[in-house]
Amino acid sequence: MAGSNRNLLVLPGDGIGPEVMNEVRKVIAWMGRKRAVGFDIKEDVVGGAAIDKHGVPVADATVDAAMQADAVLFGSVGGPKWDSVPFEKKPERGLLRLRKEMDLFANLRPAKVFDALVGASTLKPEIVKGLDIMIIRELTSGVYFGEPRGITTRPDGQREGIDTQRYTSGEIRRVCAVAFELARKRQNKVCSAEKANVMHTGVLWREEATKLHKESYADVELTHMYADALAMQLLRWPGQFDVIVTDNLFGDILSDEASMLTGSLGMLPSASLGAPDATGRRKALYEPIHGSAPDIAGKGIANPLAEMLSYAMMLRYSFDLDGEADLVGRAVENVLAAGYRTADLLTAGQDDKGLKKVGTQEMGDAIVKELDRLV
Ligand code: IPM
Ligand code: MN
Repeated sequence: MAGSNRNLLVLPGDGIGPEVMNEVRKVIAWMGRKRAVGFDIKEDVVGGAAIDKHGVPVADATVDAAMQADAVLFGSVGGPKWDSVPFEKKPERGLLRLRKEMDLFANLRPAKVFDALVGASTLKPEIVKGLDIMIIRELTSGVYFGEPRGITTRPDGQREGIDTQRYTSGEIRRVCAVAFELARKRQNKVCSAEKANVMHTGVLWREEATKLHKESYADVELTHMYADALAMQLLRWPGQFDVIVTDNLFGDILSDEASMLTGSLGMLPSASLGAPDATGRRKALYEPIHGSAPDIAGKGIANPLAEMLSYAMMLRYSFDLDGEADLVGRAVENVLAAGYRTADLLTAGQDDKGLKKVGTQEMGDAIVKELDRLV
């Protein structure tokens, strides 16, 4: 591919990560050929693959490369093969270290229901049709990283596990600012979720969100909800939400829940962004929200669309290539409308009539063919 000033680090990782990444490579190649959108691509191992190669879930040199890259395209990490690895060296630590060292505090997780998939959701069609929610998950703090943490044995002989939920006002404000900015380009509504009824971090979160809103974003509609109530409302009436902003752990859970509104965990992409530097450039990592799915890895049946849509988010957020990002989105939409479905998108019932069950590679090929048709 022609050289470019776009530096991309590809980290396929473990499980279905490499399989779905292979399909995205087809689209990357297509973009180079047909739209002159080229990348200088470096590739490396992460997670279990890095443990096997280097004895650590991410090598220092890989972290350096990620810091230098304009964007990182990430697959997934983890699997039973590394179950016996000590906690601090687990495959997942590789991803967490990248998020932390790159300071990727804003994780954008859009849950958008494609018309063709309305029947694939377990919720009633009238509840999910046209749904378009953006969950902003804080990604570099909270209970994922708070100290003290660990497992100790107390004087009475009992073992004790400790994780610490903590947030500073600055950490809350910067992620809420991202939510308000994004809302202005959407339906102009933000719902902030925490547990201010039982957690001090929740009280602080609500106060800081309210203050920032008053200072700089009074034009945006801001509501607050307890995270448990929000989990319930997501199923009852998801259409009430536009942008949701919440902490690291609640965001992890609520985004998995939201993914099922769209029909499958295999459909949700994400973008993890840092703060813009003096030149306006943000560090960024793009990854599907699904995991490595060891149960289906190697079978060629994984859904590559979440990785595909993560690549589209990269085009949009790191390279301002909105036209190309829209093109990928449209190709996905049309291929679904034509009835192509990976196994995760089938219900094994009435709704599957007339659909074409395809594997990972066939889905990737269908997307490339549709891109060809579109331009
Ligand atoms: C996610 C994943 C990760 C998380 C794991 C793999 C560390 O579940 O990105 O949602 O918990 O953040
Ligand atoms: Mn998760």
